[in-house]
Amino acid sequence: MYNAIYDSLIIGKKVIYLPSCHSTNDIAAELVRKDLMEEGTVVITDNQTQGRGQRGTAWLSEPGKNLTLSFILRPVFLPIQRQFLLSQTIALALSDFLSKYSSEVRIKWPNDIYVSGKKISGTSIENSIQGTTIASTVIGIGVNINQVDFTSPRMTSLAAMLGEEIALIVAFEELMQLLDKRYHSLKSMVENQVIHLEYLTHLIGYQESVKFVRQGNRFQGTVIGIAESGRILIKPDGADLVQDFGIKEIEWIFDE
Ligand code: BTN
Repeated sequence: MYNAIYDSLIIGKKVIYLPSCHSTNDIAAELVRKDLMEEGTVVITDNQTQGRGQRGTAWLSEPGKNLTLSFILRPVFLPIQRQFLLSQTIALALSDFLSKYSSEVRIKWPNDIYVSGKKISGTSIENSIQGTTIASTVIGIGVNINQVDFTSPRMTSLAAMLGEEIALIVAFEELMQLLDKRYHSLKSMVENQVIHLEYLTHLIGYQESVKFVRQGNRFQGTVIGIAESGRILIKPDGADLVQDFGIKEIEWIFDE
């Protein structure tokens, strides 16, 4: 059972807890469509039966072990061309939360969180555009907290790292407070360059040579930045030109 966060400004002011559901993203999206959801309302479940990940993948989470939640924002203050700032804001809030427990937290572009080279959290962002602004967005977050058995050796959780379980309610409250704080900063900041620079300092591959695969071809390169559009800027080793890629155009290769 999860309750509303009493001192929240937006995110977590209202919490809808469902013991079980197919996907919190779908529930949140449905409530948005019916105009039944205030900005910042969170839908959270203990047992997500058809969780969706990025690029058409499934998000698998052992019932009662992790945080699986979605919330709706109405970032109408953000022009479409700056929408990646929202993604960076969410990634930074997750990084703030996980950094309470580990010093090895990094962001993998665009918004996965890795700890010691393993994925611990994933985020999906589904925007509804109206004119030149984002009318509403459903942000879905999965954070592995107490699950210790994974189908992939590339996944981890706080409990797997720390060797002890964490109360989900405590983790939920901490995460909500940090998301709320970061979103408030995004809203109030006239110049959002600070968010972007902070994001870069946490980014895997920023100013370091890492391996990628593109259309089946491997290459090594250095991330030199992220464009305002959110496309990643990579300078392949030995090349003079910088190339930019979208989310579906490139994969990272971690140590084999
Ligand atoms: C990813 O593939 O990294 C994104 C994972 C997003 C998973 C979360 S869990 C809560 C919400 N509901 C969903 O169906 N997906 C998101």
